[in-house]
Amino acid sequence: MKRILVTGAAGQIGSELIPALRERFGDDAVVASDIRVPRDAAARDGSFEHVDCTHIREIDHAVRHHRIGTIYHLAALLSAVAEERPRVAWDVNMGGLYRVLEVARQHGCAVFFPSSIGAFGPTTPPVDTPQVTIQRPTTIYGITKVSGELLCDYYHARFGLDTRGLRLPGLISHTALPGGGTTDYAVEIFHHAIRYDRYTCFLRADTRLDMMYMADATRAMIEVMEADPARLADRNAYNLTAMSFAPAQLAEAIRAERPHFEIDYDVDPVRQAIADSWPQHIDDRAAREQWDWSPRYDLERMTREMLTALSAKARDRT
Ligand code: SER
Repeated sequence: MKRILVTGAAGQIGSELIPALRERFGDDAVVASDIRVPRDAAARDGSFEHVDCTHIREIDHAVRHHRIGTIYHLAALLSAVAEERPRVAWDVNMGGLYRVLEVARQHGCAVFFPSSIGAFGPTTPPVDTPQVTIQRPTTIYGITKVSGELLCDYYHARFGLDTRGLRLPGLISHTALPGGGTTDYAVEIFHHAIRYDRYTCFLRADTRLDMMYMADATRAMIEVMEADPARLADRNAYNLTAMSFAPAQLAEAIRAERPHFEIDYDVDPVRQAIADSWPQHIDDRAAREQWDWSPRYDLERMTREMLTALSAKARDRT
């Protein structure tokens, strides 16, 4: 049996993609890997391999040892933290992807690459952003994402590698915190709503961005890798969205469930500038047409689920 390797397993996406993959393919089919050994026992269920993606030997060892057929390459720095450490971001995001693709080429693995709304820039049409359009990002994160999309295209065209990717929006989940992204406010706000019934947001009230509930995102990552390759004209990478809102609208949706919730704003100029360079709403018709993408969570449903899950966790702690 060929197995699935997930890099960056301890991160925001990995900690939910791994259980989703294990549920679908069985515990033995999925190998989690990260530079950090996960603290939480559940994350260590099944096999775990220490992999630093900047070391090709470690990737190669994991792929050989576990007879890997597909790599979900999630290890990367998010946008805000990448701006603080641009050289590290280039080494990890670009260097890691390059090494993963090289190992995949040698062993014939399929590769999933998470691109982002960050792959767009200020000259991109910001509303209903087309699948194929201007991509001149101004962040190091975005530069690694566009370059990553192109490198995946190259490995597909040149070496016949089965590379597929998604331009993911801001992801919202109650399991793991994002850590260093521009869209992190949309997760933090729920934790603060449960604890304090108030939140100070680092983006302006009207900063509209695409977002998605993690259950939709992990399902999309599995579905795109299972899609009929003959239909995948835009394999690297599909625009993907489920909802688009600004902090003020998210606060309204939370207030509908928790009437005492209050929001105020203390804008972080760095993250605001990053958000202002990204689209407000991307057009994901290509994903809908080529592999039948359809989100299940809108703003209201996502908000209810986040508040219910986090309230239950808070009750368990007390
Ligand atoms: N959520 C990511 C970030 O904010 C965007 O892809 O960095």
